[in-house]
This record gives sequence, structure tokens and C-alpha cells, in this order.
Amino acid sequence: MSASPTFASLVPEFDALRRRFPPGFESSLVLPCLRRLQEAWGHVEDSDIAALAEYLAVPRVQIEEALSFYGQLRREPVGRWHVEVCRNVSCSLRGAETLLERLSSKLGLAPGDTSADGRFTLSTCECLGSCGTAPVVLVNGVYHENASAPEIERMIEGLERA
Ligand code: FES
Repeated sequence: MSASPTFASLVPEFDALRRRFPPGFESSLVLPCLRRLQEAWGHVEDSDIAALAEYLAVPRVQIEEALSFYGQLRREPVGRWHVEVCRNVSCSLRGAETLLERLSSKLGLAPGDTSADGRFTLSTCECLGSCGTAPVVLVNGVYHENASAPEIERMIEGLERA
């Protein structure tokens, strides 16, 4: 399978990364390469999975496993504003479910959906490692800790105007 333009343009970076690892450790490059692809493209395209498997000479399933295990890696595009609500134990105990319901109502989106205009995606996620400041909402990767529904709703209103 031929590599996408995004993949091809990143090969020099991947080559530089590869030189830092001894031969035989190509598996260790799967995660940094996937993270870089997502950074460049917003998500990891199916064609890039094939291209990466070929480039690293690792089984495709190894890349698929990393993509399915790490919730931060995406196979689908998201909206301009990606709103993620942590639903793990600490956040749930501190009101994440209510927060999610309010956000869902505010955006008119069910978790996992993207608005028709491509501006917002609402998702849930696993523990963000900030349980002491639960509940936590991520917006385009930025932490909003001790999140309250009114505060997050005001932020959404600001993003709607942006
Ligand atoms: S449970 Fe939400 S940050 Fe840990």
C-alpha cells in the first residue's frame, strides 16, 4: 500500500527517531510514530497504519493493538473543538455524569458524536491522571480541572463564537 502524503512527509522524522534505537527495537517506535501521525493529521488514517507496519516491518496487528489500547489515539477525525469528559471513578464520584449530561444537552451531541458543522466532538475518556482535581474535562488536550457545569458551559459558549 502506498503511504499517504502525511506519512511520506514524516518519514525523515521517523528515520531520525529510528537511528536512536538499536536494530531489532522497531516495536518501540510504534507509539512515537503514531503520536506524531496524529499530531500531523488529527487522527491515524487506515492507510497510515499499513504504511507504518511496512516502514517498521512490524505486524499490522501490533499497531492496531496500540491504537485500541491507548484512548488518546484516534482513528476517526474529530471536530475543531474536541471536548472529552473523564468518566473514571474519581471523576464519576465528583459529578462527571452530570457534567456529561449538561455538555451533551448544551452541544446537542451524544458522547462519540461530532456536530454536523464539524466544530465540536464530545467524547468520554478514561482516567487522565488528575484524580485529585476531579472532575476533569479536556478541550483539545487542555485540562480543565475541578470542572463545574456552569464554567464548562460558559467556555463552550466562548468556543461557539470563536
Ligand atoms: S478519574 Fe478522572 S482524572 Fe482520574
